[in-house]
Amino acid sequence: MDTSLFESVDQYIGNLFEDEDAVLKGTLKSMEDAGIPGINVSANQGKFLQVLARLCGAKKILEIGALGGYSTIWLARALPADGLLITLELEQAYADVARLNIIEAGLDPVVEIKVGKAMESLATLEANDEGPFDMIFIDADKPPYTEYFEWALKLSRPGTLIVADNVIREGKVLDDNCDDERVSGVQRFNKVLAANQQVTATIIQTVGTKEHDGMAIAVVK
Ligand SMILES: C[S@@+](CC[C@H](N)C(=O)[O-])C[C@H]1O[C@@H](n2cnc3c(N)ncnc32)[C@H](O)[C@@H]1O
Repeated sequence: MDTSLFESVDQYIGNLFEDEDAVLKGTLKSMEDAGIPGINVSANQGKFLQVLARLCGAKKILEIGALGGYSTIWLARALPADGLLITLELEQAYADVARLNIIEAGLDPVVEIKVGKAMESLATLEANDEGPFDMIFIDADKPPYTEYFEWALKLSRPGTLIVADNVIREGKVLDDNCDDERVSGVQRFNKVLAANQQVTATIIQTVGTKEHDGMAIAVVK
């Protein structure tokens, strides 16, 4: 597929709104310097998440998958001064880079990074009664997306917005025989999401500087 038009239009949108400032550009550079893979959301996707966070008046956000803190910064910038974003990250080295970027963005008063397996951190969040969150962004390893969604529901209230990234995977979700566990993980999640009566949900396809993919968006009833 020729994706050059999608990339050019994504750049056009980015140039128009000029939202990726020096801190966000520096975050990407710090990730590159540290050898962290560039599997972050694109700038326009980050802005889209920020718009969603503002739309739901988020004061408390949970992110599953921090990487170098790029999407964290987009999201946390939507918070009020007394807001809170908790982000979960498996890799200590990534969390260290994310922490520096969050400090650089002046967001350390509102962002907490919890290092470890997301599944364990989620159980701790529930045990400590740290929910409900106003918005939850699922963007970690794909095989347990269904379980992350189930935890997200437990940490939600009516009106909570749950967003899950990378659920289309260049259309590979259409292939029932795909042996990629990331694809089967999101296929399973998409089915569970569609059948779940506790949420109103859909998936939007995403194109641009990143590969063709999709974001699931669900509101808890
Ligand atoms: C796609 S990246 C996150 C990108 C980030 N949200 C952004 O857009 O800037 C996925 C992240 O999830 C982390 N991860 C993978 N498995 C995990 C697990 N079991 N628990 C917590 N984090 C995990 C990875 O280390 C990686 O940093």
